[in-house]
Amino acid sequence: MAARINPSILSADFVNMQRDLERIASADYVHVDVMDNHFVPNLTFGPQMVERVQATSPVPLDVHLMIDDPDRWAPQYAEIGCFSVTFHAEAATAPVTLARTLRKLGARAGIALSPKTDVGAYLELLPEFDQVLVMTVEPGFGGQKFLPHVMSKLTRLREAAARLGTDVWLEVDGGVTEETIGIAADAGADTFVAGSSVFGASDAAAAIEGLRSAASA
Ligand code: DX5
Ligand code: ZN
Repeated sequence: MAARINPSILSADFVNMQRDLERIASADYVHVDVMDNHFVPNLTFGPQMVERVQATSPVPLDVHLMIDDPDRWAPQYAEIGCFSVTFHAEAATAPVTLARTLRKLGARAGIALSPKTDVGAYLELLPEFDQVLVMTVEPGFGGQKFLPHVMSKLTRLREAAARLGTDVWLEVDGGVTEETIGIAADAGADTFVAGSSVFGASDAAAAIEGLRSAASA
């Protein structure tokens, strides 16, 4: 199946959001980075903005919460109808309970792992999640360099998913370009977030297409 390409609006022009959403109409999902200045040293936006993005976006929303206490704050993103809601393993108190809540509210439930977080504790829990987001940079900022050493997590996740017979999407986020996307695809990723490499291109649609074909090359 074709790679899913999810442009991250962290690299969009925040005062021209509607225009920038139209530039990525050929994407699979739009990746929405919610940051709270506590879990990461950066601040973006909250549910009010996300709801407006959802109303305007040509494609469904893949929400990535880089926030403390997702147990408390994540369900509201499912309640407003976001397609997928991903919270960080390092921030959640009861990840399985939270994932079940998100699913009950109709969203796909995702868990994100920062580069230093070991995947071991999550392998047997895979059936509780619809997607796992493997960070390929330290969360917080766009435009950083892809960390190839986290690829072993994807291999382990892919093996565990096959063993458990569960259909989980494996997403990578950070430093994804036409040069790096193939490394992640080879390691087992099927869903790719790309901020600066899409919004930094003069032709965003061509950049999305370039990533799609580089992922399956
Ligand atoms: C970083 C965010 C990413 C970011 C990726 O913490 O989670 O989604 O937008 O940006 P690039 O693709 O520029 O590395
Ligand atoms: Zn992200």
